[in-house]
Amino acid sequence: MKNPKEENDLMEKIVSLCKRRGFVFPGSEIYGGFAGTYDWGHLGVALKRNVIDAWTKAMQDHRNMTFLDSSIFTSGKVWEASGHVSGFSDPLVICNVCKEKSRADHLLENAGIRADEKLSELEINKIFDNNRNKIKCPKCGNKDFGQIRASNLLATSNLGMLDSKEDQVYLRGETAQGIFINYKNVLDTGFVSIPFGIAQIGKAFRNEISPRQFLFRKREFEQMEMQYFSHPNEAMDNYEAWKKERMEYYKKLGINSKRLRFKPHENLVFYAKAACDIEYEFSFGWNELEGIHYRGDYDLTQHQKFSGVDMRFYDEETKEKYIPHIVETSVGVDRTVLMVLCDAYCEDKLGESERVVLKFLPKLAPVICAVSPLLKNKPELVEYANTKVYAPLKAEFGRVAWDDNGNIGKRYRRQDEIGTPFCIVVDFDTLEDDTVTIRDRDTGEQERVKTDNLKNYIKEKIS
Ligand code: GAP
Repeated sequence: MKNPKEENDLMEKIVSLCKRRGFVFPGSEIYGGFAGTYDWGHLGVALKRNVIDAWTKAMQDHRNMTFLDSSIFTSGKVWEASGHVSGFSDPLVICNVCKEKSRADHLLENAGIRADEKLSELEINKIFDNNRNKIKCPKCGNKDFGQIRASNLLATSNLGMLDSKEDQVYLRGETAQGIFINYKNVLDTGFVSIPFGIAQIGKAFRNEISPRQFLFRKREFEQMEMQYFSHPNEAMDNYEAWKKERMEYYKKLGINSKRLRFKPHENLVFYAKAACDIEYEFSFGWNELEGIHYRGDYDLTQHQKFSGVDMRFYDEETKEKYIPHIVETSVGVDRTVLMVLCDAYCEDKLGESERVVLKFLPKLAPVICAVSPLLKNKPELVEYANTKVYAPLKAEFGRVAWDDNGNIGKRYRRQDEIGTPFCIVVDFDTLEDDTVTIRDRDTGEQERVKTDNLKNYIKEKIS
């Protein structure tokens, strides 16, 4: 078990590495920052893309999966129908002394009082009131707070609102609503029938009271969501199947299975038939990574009610007409990236030297291999490395780096720190026998491989 100092240290080290090596930068940094936002650097873009590709591939493996890219902006009615306008909120509490705004459940958690973030408003209020003497303001340390009030998470906009009488417009709080409102369109294309899925990746926005833990809780983030539409009698089986599949997926991504677990929701929302989270043990404790929810017919029924459009599916064979039941899998790209970084981060000793290494699964690594001439002042080595190794590998894999800075040991350390699985060195033997050295990131072991076999060697490793 790590102590709080170690937990913070680890997160601080990851945040610092991310900035130093160009994975993630704090948002609006030159203006003092903008809470809950981060910008992706060169390596972060690549890592994020690999995470997205892995998810997309897993969804594509289903014959009856379709993809969608719906708008961030929608009619305000969408969010009224979904219940977000009236009921999508966090419990806000303000310190009476310094006016710091906090989430009541987070303050309870800081005071060591169990407060599941899915507790109802009433329950949080009760627990908070019973423990006021134990809860301290994180900014000034006082224990004097106002009453808890619900703070809506939807971010508002005035896009297209030319006068104040028009319906309020929101930035989407989840991508799922875009899927529900397009379900009929997808069905009408005739390519799929029940059961089928709609998968979507896109930005979502939430007015989080206290964005925190780096990429874990942001105000602008990206979701990868999938809604699976089934006959009501089959939906529960599909829920169980998706649970199993999604857990296997993370294990195949190389995530330490001891740090993954299911957590059933203790307090189901009234319409949900079943729900659980896949949790990961971050350095700050077990926390939700992905939600898997059996939502019944709630969402389509709501949109039917508010839009007046018949959301029923007509089964030509059985002549049955029904609103399909939905199973949802929902995970954040940013949160997945944070998990992948935490899981890969390692400080170890290789030979005599200590190092920081990101042990990504090769297919997730932002740079798949780095190519180096042993000496950068030997034109024959540089020429060979450039034309016979770097150029063909770059054309094949894209994620290939040229690294000729400093001595070989330094290059290895630098590549270890960004998680490059293979370092390829062109030396004088290469000029004689057309072989190069490949050094393995995790073991430090080196082997000689024929230049002509390099593409296949790497392909095998990342498959
Ligand atoms: N459509 C269901 C839905 O949006 P959710 O539990 O609110 O459910 C799903 O969010 C996932 O989106 C979470 O498990 C998490 O991975 C990610 N997520 C939610 N809020 C986030 C935030 N503020 N920052 C980063 N990721 C977030």
